[in-house]
Amino acid sequence: MTKYNRIFRVADNRRPSPGYSLIRLQSDESLPPMVPGQFVSVRVDGVQHTFLRRPFSIHNVDADDRALELLIQVVGEGSARIAALQPGDSVDMIFPLGNGFTTDIAPASEVLLTGGGAGIAPLLFLGKELRQRGIVPTFLLGGRSAANLIRMDAFEAVGRLCCTTEDGSMGERGFVTQHSILQDRRFDFIYTCGPRPMMAAVAAYARRTGSPCEVSLENTMACGIGACLCCVEDTRQGHQCVCTAGPVFNIEQLKW
Ligand SMILES: Cc1cc2nc3c(=O)[nH]c(=O)nc-3n(C[C@H](O)[C@H](O)[C@H](O)COP(=O)(O)OP(=O)(O)OC[C@H]3O[C@@H](n4cnc5c(N)ncnc54)[C@H](O)[C@@H]3O)c2cc1C
Ligand code: FES
Repeated sequence: MTKYNRIFRVADNRRPSPGYSLIRLQSDESLPPMVPGQFVSVRVDGVQHTFLRRPFSIHNVDADDRALELLIQVVGEGSARIAALQPGDSVDMIFPLGNGFTTDIAPASEVLLTGGGAGIAPLLFLGKELRQRGIVPTFLLGGRSAANLIRMDAFEAVGRLCCTTEDGSMGERGFVTQHSILQDRRFDFIYTCGPRPMMAAVAAYARRTGSPCEVSLENTMACGIGACLCCVEDTRQGHQCVCTAGPVFNIEQLKW
């Protein structure tokens, strides 16, 4: 898939919860094809120590408006700078990068999209794509507390929504893998993105139930295009760059 280096304009920047930013970026030109699971690499301007671009999943695409959205959790200098961008500011991005989730599955399939923290970002775009293919996705989203469960209205508009919080402030108490829905049902396909221990637990659940499962890895990246080898994952096919062979992997490809 062709990659582009393009300047976007910030059309909107909202704070869905403290520490998170939902940024809408608009292009002067029409957007190229993008698939759920792919990411963008953002140049961080105006800070002294952030030389490398930062990778963020494509959260939502509005092709008619030539716009895409990023959901950003502030964890350090780069994400803080990007989250502070104001409407009208320019953003230099390379996109679309990496591969995508499998979406070519039977229309009546029962699919689970589960994630935590900023890992929920690619699941909205994925859910919308599946919905267009006649599948009603089940979202199972987890966070430490209600403040970490963001964009619930957007997910609820696309599919069934279940959630967990570690402190019980919203949904069922505990981790996503402890939610009662996993006891009641077997899913035809499972997708997950979030903290690595969470994805490993989801992968273990998928293996127990015999469900195909794809995970989106968030290994630390620098170039985003397969040149620096800093994002390598030791897979069953050998060492692979997560930025080009992934970020989406079937669990059968992974050693966990
Ligand atoms: C494919 C992919 C998709 C991602 N999608 C999202 C998303 O949609 N929303 C979101 O909030 N975050 C996402 N991330 C994580 C995001 O890239 C990092 O949080 C961000 O780069 C941190 O930069 P920083 O300068 O704020 O933090 P830093 O001060 O550089 O580091 C803070 C912490 O962030 C992690 N980190 C730093 N640089 C990177 C990097 N280049 N790649 C991965 N992790 C890093 C490190 O673990 C470090 O401990 C994604 C990461 C990857 C690889
Ligand atoms: S980030 Fe450079 S090879 Fe993947």
